[in-house]
Amino acid sequence: MFLELDGHGPHYSQLTRALKSAILSGRLSTGARLPSTRVLAEELGLSRITVLTAYEQLRAEGYIVGRVGSGSYVSTSHAEPMLPRRAPAIPGTPLTRYAKRARQLADWSITTRHCDRRLDMQYGRSQINPTLGAIWGRELAWASTRTRLEYASNQGLPALREQVCDYLARRRGIRTTSDRVLIVSGTQQAISLTSRVLLDEGDEVGIEDPHYFGAWQQFGAHGASLQAIPTDHEGLVCSALPAQAPRLVMVTPSHQFPAGPALSLPRRQELLRYAQAKNCWIMEDDYDGELRYDSAPLPTLRSLDDDDRVIYVGTFSKVMFGALRLGYMVLPEALCDDFVNAKYLCDRGNPAIEQAALAHFMEDGGFERHLRYVTKELSARRRELIAGLQQYVGDRVQIADAHAGMHVTVWLPDYGHEQVDAVIAEAHGRGLGLYSIAPHYRKPPTVPGLILGYCGLSRAQLHEAMQLFGESLDAVDAARKPLSMRRHSA
Ligand SMILES: Cc1ncc(COP(=O)(O)O)c(C=O)c1O
Repeated sequence: MFLELDGHGPHYSQLTRALKSAILSGRLSTGARLPSTRVLAEELGLSRITVLTAYEQLRAEGYIVGRVGSGSYVSTSHAEPMLPRRAPAIPGTPLTRYAKRARQLADWSITTRHCDRRLDMQYGRSQINPTLGAIWGRELAWASTRTRLEYASNQGLPALREQVCDYLARRRGIRTTSDRVLIVSGTQQAISLTSRVLLDEGDEVGIEDPHYFGAWQQFGAHGASLQAIPTDHEGLVCSALPAQAPRLVMVTPSHQFPAGPALSLPRRQELLRYAQAKNCWIMEDDYDGELRYDSAPLPTLRSLDDDDRVIYVGTFSKVMFGALRLGYMVLPEALCDDFVNAKYLCDRGNPAIEQAALAHFMEDGGFERHLRYVTKELSARRRELIAGLQQYVGDRVQIADAHAGMHVTVWLPDYGHEQVDAVIAEAHGRGLGLYSIAPHYRKPPTVPGLILGYCGLSRAQLHEAMQLFGESLDAVDAARKPLSMRRHSA
């Protein structure tokens, strides 16, 4: 415990003052246990009687209470801090250009504004398998006794990289070797490392519109100049890519985020030809590509890439859980060393025990079983959601064509943006969190839409959610009907 004695007067009163100051400033919080008199005396090089006298003084003044046999604790009723409070930190001018840009971009409300609602359709939720917590606990316990506790490889544990290669070959059609795999802390870090390795301030990055706001923020904070490329029912509109190529194009080919469609095969080929002709890099964000329901997946861009230009990024955030913070990159040979260097400089690698636990889970077949469970359950929830939409919302929405992932996008062609905002407000009042797609665009789309995340709700809750969605639309419909019609239909 850090205590500074002020050197004035007897030792016991110096210690009493130091302890009081620690309590009043909150460094020793209410209910905290004080060290035993023996331990504190040894730590400070004082006699035990000095510490005992100081504790007695504090007890007499009500700062601490003693519990027989269990030591002394900071009292819950001691006077409120009497030391002059420090003025609240005033957010000053950011010290770097990075901090300034990051500050301007720091808005997480896009995904959290309704998280206090009983039925929240936020799209990013990911814990679906109720047994996963217990399974994961066992895996961690297993790994903690078998993992060397020295610094592990900053590229990632070889066992996990091997498992990732195996998994990518089976599930995503990607043939690679473990020396080309880099384990990262999720997609967010993959984007950060890509920015460090490929981009100087002002370098251009092509990004889909709509897009994953986490990518926009990350590239933006690094000072990239972002160019929004439109998308349609076939994904990225490759003909809209600029003649003067950006350094990097970032895409979500398996399941355009957040609008839904998969990038068609001709467009995949067109994008690869563009990158080859213009000498630029592609980042493939395959965030939920393995979660496909009623159609066969298209080959990943990386598996079609003969020119070694695609930086492939996968994450365990969706198929496992977001708090795991593990993902992986498959790197072009030319970039491999620079990425591994950047990872070393960033954090010297991911925690080894978690990596070992995941490698064992994958090797043992537990991961595949979990994935089958998740796919089946999500597919059932998706069917429930769509049935509920058909029952309660009907043709007031158009369901975007998507067969993957954890959210469904719906369009509301008969409504204006303000009316859809009113629907969202109505739903909020009824305990339902709905999210507009508009903040994911640079320019709001001509037709308003909603992103319906169905991961965080059970099938019964999804049914109820769609009923509330229908009622919210009814309320807005009633308000927007001309008065004469309302009277007529009443
Ligand atoms: C498009 C997209 N990519 C990637 C991710 C995952 O990010 P991370 O791996 O950093 O958790 C998300 C999370 O919601 C996402 O929506």
